Amino acid sequence: MKAPIGVIDSGVGGLTVVREMIERLPKESIIYIGDDARCPYGPKSPEEVASYTVELAEALQHLGIKMLVIACNTATAAALPIVSEAFDFPIIGVIEPGSRAALQVSKNEKIVVLGTIGTVKSEAYNRAILRRSDGRAEVQALACPNFVPIVEAGEYDTPQAKEVVAETLSVLDSDTFDTAILGCTHYPLLEKQIRDYFPPSVEIISSAVETVKDVDRTLRAFGIQNKESGRTIRFYTTGERSEFKEIVEDWLPIERPVVEHINLQAVIRSKGRTLR
Ligand code: DGL
Repeated sequence: MKAPIGVIDSGVGGLTVVREMIERLPKESIIYIGDDARCPYGPKSPEEVASYTVELAEALQHLGIKMLVIACNTATAAALPIVSEAFDFPIIGVIEPGSRAALQVSKNEKIVVLGTIGTVKSEAYNRAILRRSDGRAEVQALACPNFVPIVEAGEYDTPQAKEVVAETLSVLDSDTFDTAILGCTHYPLLEKQIRDYFPPSVEIISSAVETVKDVDRTLRAFGIQNKESGRTIRFYTTGERSEFKEIVEDWLPIERPVVEHINLQAVIRSKGRTLR
């Protein structure tokens, strides 16, 4: 099936998932929407985040996607069941894949989740990890609200980033876990600083790779993989096009990426509401 896969995030963070999709699913077309105009989702209420997520999914439905990846931890935590209920195409989030990957590498099932305030408050990772480990795992979670602004400002590879990471993580005792989940799409961009801060015995998990394995499995399960050549990748932002384009060019191996501004309500209105 030639239709594109939709990918959504509150901003540029979900591009870490797109980067893996480009490499691991070379035939699949992608439409990405970053909701930069309303980023960050992390400090917002679950109800607000859920309504934004439904709106993004609805716009993508009108643009003709065959499946949806919610490449945002905060949106997955707040809205995955609601969105899955509302639309007919298959939908996956990033929390289950990240939890699975952490349990695969952890030797003592002691895991720390780094995420936004919304993700940590939702306890969605705690529930997923406990369910998958039959209640054995010990899960701590730390909200790192200062990480997203550094990444959004493109300052992830600076001495200030190193300082903020060290200061935020200093409240953790690294003897109490052996695995850390980067439970926010933006944190893989700070992976080097996080890696350098923790002792080498701590494994770092980014859910992007595991999420793309789930995308692949889902495409096969529904028989909707694309077998033809000539895939397309399009990026939309609800915010400022030029800033978004710079980050796409910086992060992704794509020459001359197609980046446009999108008005979600205009797309939805022009095609009429078709929620289930
Ligand atoms: N994309 C969000 C996440 O993965 C982080 C940015 C935000 O707070 O909106 O949780």
